[in-house]
Amino acid sequence: MKTYRIAPSILSADFARLGEEVRNVIAAGADFIHFDVMDNHYVPNLTIGPLVAQSLKPHCKRADGTPVPLDVHLMVKPVDALVPMFAKAGADIISFHPEASEHIDRTLQLIRDSGCKAGLVFNPATSLDVLDYVMDRIDLVLIMSVNPGFGGQSFIEGALHKTAIVRKKLDAYKAQSGRDILLEVDGGIKADNIAKVAAAGADTFVAGSAIFGQPDYKAVVDAMRANLAG
Ligand code: DX5
Ligand code: ZN
Repeated sequence: MKTYRIAPSILSADFARLGEEVRNVIAAGADFIHFDVMDNHYVPNLTIGPLVAQSLKPHCKRADGTPVPLDVHLMVKPVDALVPMFAKAGADIISFHPEASEHIDRTLQLIRDSGCKAGLVFNPATSLDVLDYVMDRIDLVLIMSVNPGFGGQSFIEGALHKTAIVRKKLDAYKAQSGRDILLEVDGGIKADNIAKVAAAGADTFVAGSAIFGQPDYKAVVDAMRANLAG
């Protein structure tokens, strides 16, 4: 049986009560906390930085103390200066967009050297070309199913085909290396479309407005898991 992870995006949480929101969504069954960083340069919006990550880190654990990974999605350009800052703040995974880095290989290495897992993010119209050259250096691929910058947008169907292409590449890589790379999809995911995203090959699902837009987070996470179970 495949392991699926649900990664609520706190972009749609109540920013005045972020610690409580993180604890509530973990109690509801979150596997990762997805942390969207926007810089009003790479994307036309502005969100939160390493100081907020550092404040939230102590909240990223289950009632029994098990840590819940902080999944940092950098929508910033340039990338490199922020990597050690987020690593120090407690990021477990740091992902960035290849077009936002002058030297993709170097940025990936920097993330790993900072003690984090490294991810690459592909926008709806960004080519996957670089992926073949960085397999050994990445731990996660993130396929955007909306254009980055805002929560609450509609799922772009073309992301399904792209996810399926990446699934094939990751399976081939696993057969040759024995190493798993996570395949995460971000944008417009809800309980009623999560199954087709999984069918395309995703194992990790970011959902912001679908979860935080409802009063009962657990009901949404449960509905997502039920639909993933088929
Ligand atoms: C968009 C962000 C997403 C966003 C998803 O740029 O990367 O993580 O929060 O929000 P929903 O699930 O509302 O599309
Ligand atoms: Zn995101």
